[in-house]
Amino acid sequence: MAQRISLTRYLVEQQREEGHIPSQLRLLLEVVARACKSISQAVNKGALGGVLGSADSENVQGEVQKKLDIIANEVLIEANEWGGHLAAMASEEMDSIYLVPNRYPQGEYLLLFDPLDGSSNIDVNVSIGTIFSVLKKPEGSPGVTEQDFLQAGAKQVAAGYCVYGPQTTLVLTVGDGVSMFTLDREQGSFVLTQENVRIPADTKEFAINMSNMRHWDEPVKRYIDECLQGKEGPRGKDFNMRWIASMVADVHRILTRGGVFMYPWDKREPNKPGKLRLMYEANPMSWLVEQAGGAATNGRQRILDIEPGQLHERVSVILGSKNEVDRVTSYHTGV
Ligand code: AHG
Ligand code: MN
Ligand code: MN
Ligand code: MN
Repeated sequence: MAQRISLTRYLVEQQREEGHIPSQLRLLLEVVARACKSISQAVNKGALGGVLGSADSENVQGEVQKKLDIIANEVLIEANEWGGHLAAMASEEMDSIYLVPNRYPQGEYLLLFDPLDGSSNIDVNVSIGTIFSVLKKPEGSPGVTEQDFLQAGAKQVAAGYCVYGPQTTLVLTVGDGVSMFTLDREQGSFVLTQENVRIPADTKEFAINMSNMRHWDEPVKRYIDECLQGKEGPRGKDFNMRWIASMVADVHRILTRGGVFMYPWDKREPNKPGKLRLMYEANPMSWLVEQAGGAATNGRQRILDIEPGQLHERVSVILGSKNEVDRVTSYHTGV
């Protein structure tokens, strides 16, 4: 039988042989994985654990928080604050950055997360997840400020997500391709189940919330309209559609069998650049997708090149199979 490679062993080998990750980053990724295991347990218990339903609070983006949004946020903070590998954290569910308390040693990394992605799917027992991104604290400054987090996605040193679905799967990049690890509940460890994940350049499957069609911008309307015309239309092939409404699950499908995912800017909120969050959702997912040979833009620009202006910044997202993303982007830019 082929040898099973645990996440721990994979990370040790990445550190030792490939030289991709320093020991602090290895510890950080182990700790994030441990936190995801614990969130996965809470998710699995569902109603039995009293974790379903909403809390009485709103987050900084004006969303009503679900109990699991808050639980997952706390699990990630508690797991990460004492290890000495972090300088600070930022989350979709916290108004401002969270500094590592003085009683613990300070590390050199910044951890950003969407603790629970797909909140609207929690209570209906559909796949949800955790998304994370790791940056290095800029050198020089003694403390940590919000400004230190405002780095383009291209500066990420690690990114990934954990999807809580029929299986719990952790997907990771440290800049050397994308690897997937499935949680073995009996052993309590993540086991490497796919390396060198590749997204096919072409696809016949798109993911977008069609109920927003009347609000879309012209280039998005044109692209979807051409897909809907199928074999008889300019694309000359029939397209299939999927929309899970958990970005983790939609992106996981795209990493597994290709496709294009879009949450574009639309006219509902003309002054916001999009719905999804640049730092907690778009950047980590864009890097994973690029590392698997796909592409990710906001319609005009590579997402990883966007210089963030604020922590909770939003962005229009088009990502997945390269030729489709290039096509949608060219409909926006005209080139
Ligand atoms: P979150 O649950 O972290 O707030 O993110 C939800 C996001 C994303 O996961 C998903 O793609 C999108 O919102 C779904 O939005 P709609 O309900 O508008 O389709
Ligand atoms: Mn939310
Ligand atoms: Mn999310
Ligand atoms: Mn969330």
